[in-house]
Amino acid sequence: MPLDLHAVAGILPRGGTILRTSRTNPAKKPDGLEKCMATLKKNNVDALIAIGGDDTLSVATKLFDKGVKVVGVPKTIDNDLSGTDFTFGFDTAVNIVTEAIDRVHTTAEAHNRVMVVEVMGRDAGWIAIYSGIAGGADVILIPEQPFDVDKVAAKIRMRHGRGRYFSIVVVAEGAKFASKDALVTQSGEKDEFGHARLGGIGNTLAQEIERRTGFETRTVVLGHIQRGGSPTAFDRVLATRYGLGAIDMVHRAEFGRMAALRGNKIISVPLAEATGTNRRVDQEMMDAVFGILEDVEKEAVAG
Ligand code: F6P
Repeated sequence: MPLDLHAVAGILPRGGTILRTSRTNPAKKPDGLEKCMATLKKNNVDALIAIGGDDTLSVATKLFDKGVKVVGVPKTIDNDLSGTDFTFGFDTAVNIVTEAIDRVHTTAEAHNRVMVVEVMGRDAGWIAIYSGIAGGADVILIPEQPFDVDKVAAKIRMRHGRGRYFSIVVVAEGAKFASKDALVTQSGEKDEFGHARLGGIGNTLAQEIERRTGFETRTVVLGHIQRGGSPTAFDRVLATRYGLGAIDMVHRAEFGRMAALRGNKIISVPLAEATGTNRRVDQEMMDAVFGILEDVEKEAVAG
């Protein structure tokens, strides 16, 4: 599809992709990468701008290693690519989840319930921690820190003992019970990148909390709602700036690199650096959340 100005007119407020590309792994298919290269050649594509998260960009890196002129653009709601401060899509997801937490507060408060909100985040808890802070969650559980469900229940009991009658728990789909090795999955099925289909930790956790506290506990699984609809202004501006950064990189023949945000500047980083390791929630963010909870615990002990 020639992406001239006419083809891209009006896409700014739209989510998803007008190209209808999807997360597929050509490296897994016999001659998959060679077929991609032949298609690029046949269509006289001078350079490939790959827009996606670690899976898409790891394939882009493989194509670059085979000689394709590649530039990457960081797009994933998970915000877990290294080398950049933010990926686009993340801010939109956080805003959707924050609004959902605000709405869930109504039922939690009206019915004295514990509400568990399950959000996306396979290896990194960025969505959970940002939306949990913004939505005033009482407990936030992320993949970076396996949790002890007895402690979670104790925290909720302590809060309710201090005159609050409801609690909100935000849990990332990739969070792990300290007592169990395995992630909670929907089925044993794996995608082309070897990822199991996660989901279900919210329900399991809710049952465990209810059993330990006796408080009525319900679950809300936000799923793909987090990944749909119109992007926020922040994401629209960021995506526009990444687009400009990427095309400038093509003109400068800066290949094998990804447009990235550092502070408020668009820079470029090696693709291999961006996809080498998942960017996890950093210590400062964790201290902000878990530090506050520890203070509450100390205060409770001191009476
Ligand atoms: O990588 C983005 C992501 O939204 C993850 O947070 C989530 O685990 C996964 O995609 C879900 O993918 P699918 O729609 O293929 O189930």
